[in-house]
Amino acid sequence: MTDVFEITNKDLLGRIGKLYTPHGVVETPTVMPVINPNLRLIEPKELKRYGAQMLITNSYIIYRSEKFRQDALKRGLHAMLDFNGPIMTDSGSFQLSVYGSVEVNNSEIISFERDIGTDIGVPLDIPTAPDVPYERAKEELEITLERLGEARQYSGNMMLAGPVQGSTYMDLREEAARRVYAMDFDIYPLGAVVPLMENYRYKDLVDVIVRCKTGLGSDAPVHLFGAGHPMMLALAVSLGCDLFDSAAYALYAKDGRYLTVDGTYHISQLQHLPCSCPVCMSHTAKDIASADEKTRTRLLAEHNLYVTFEEIRLIKQSILDGDLMELVERRCRSHPKMLSGLKRMMDHSAYIERFDPATKSTFFYLGPESAKRPEVIRHNRHLKNLTVNGKILISTRKDVSREGYDNFYMVKMPFGVFPEELKETYPIGQSETISELGPEERDSTLENILSFIRDHPDAEHTFAYDEVWESPRIKDIEKAAKVVHLG
Ligand code: GUN
Ligand code: ZN
Repeated sequence: MTDVFEITNKDLLGRIGKLYTPHGVVETPTVMPVINPNLRLIEPKELKRYGAQMLITNSYIIYRSEKFRQDALKRGLHAMLDFNGPIMTDSGSFQLSVYGSVEVNNSEIISFERDIGTDIGVPLDIPTAPDVPYERAKEELEITLERLGEARQYSGNMMLAGPVQGSTYMDLREEAARRVYAMDFDIYPLGAVVPLMENYRYKDLVDVIVRCKTGLGSDAPVHLFGAGHPMMLALAVSLGCDLFDSAAYALYAKDGRYLTVDGTYHISQLQHLPCSCPVCMSHTAKDIASADEKTRTRLLAEHNLYVTFEEIRLIKQSILDGDLMELVERRCRSHPKMLSGLKRMMDHSAYIERFDPATKSTFFYLGPESAKRPEVIRHNRHLKNLTVNGKILISTRKDVSREGYDNFYMVKMPFGVFPEELKETYPIGQSETISELGPEERDSTLENILSFIRDHPDAEHTFAYDEVWESPRIKDIEKAAKVVHLG
């Protein structure tokens, strides 16, 4: 149990929460901009203007520099960065994963984080890359867990993050999550996912998040390490991630890249700026592209931060409105690999359904993926538990004779069967679907109808359907029910 995180609203696995830190309360989901103490592309105290509440910096970079180290130890990290909000510091783990070694050990870096007054410190975990041999992932995980186990000896009053590793091995991810959660950290970063995002492996990312969430308690604040592109925030929030960190706003800016929720442009490709932030309203694409490097980087970094926090606000509103799923579906249609991520998310619908609030805003059917939404799974699970016997008529049309039947069920795409008395209740009564039945809409609905028939073998089923429902699937239904074609 964590007592530093309070969840106030939920949708899917996403939530709005309050994270209590020594330097104030942070409302999640949120992104922590990464501040590199060497560059300070944007001054930390300016960050609030863009919507940031909290920042993250790297304690190893500070530790390694004599000047920064002395300054941070003497004045404290907050004074050094001139920022009075919450600060998280990462350890040298990322440098460890890139350069192979760092000249600092776990106890030194945690003690240093404590001594400079970080709000949340990170131990020296080992970010095991995707697809390494299983034995290596397991060995490195044991070392990480050992380091996490000793972290409290050095952390004093500082809040501690317990990173969850395990590479792309889902059993290790879940085990790691369970064991880290049992050690009782203040936040739980999911580690070593940057290579997955860099390679657009959103399907694997979805699996990693879901398996880590399965091992963590649902009250655990979850940080997705190294994720900050606005395109994927809605998806990650909907899977239960609360905190993000963005080096992307600065790294992309240095490369001349302009972030949007639909993807990334190079500033030289743009004739128009599709954004209304202060930067985009006071500059043309050409102004930015032709500015000197420092100015261009600065302007792009500002825009990148504005769009990132605009997306965070929209995500929060969507959680309150109960239509986060619709936002995720829209976002995931901006890139085929994101669409694969959405499809994989829907493979986890039964898991998500257990946590998703039972009633929310109107269900919008936005494509074949919507047919696997948690609401559809839940509706059919409820039907499964229903006692059904006698002569049953299931009809795609309302105006059909019910004579000689004990019970009448109607059909709604994509849910399948529903008893008439549910026609006003959520989600059947509050769903906007399409009247044009394509093969996918038709067949996913017929599959749900078939499951209903099979789940209630004691009843005598008749399925009456009209032309638009004609499909090879009818043959399967014919094996379990009497089928009537309505002429
Ligand atoms: N930054 C990005 N990924 C990681 C990770 O796995 N561990 C740490 N400590 N920092 C990271
Ligand atoms: Zn802009």
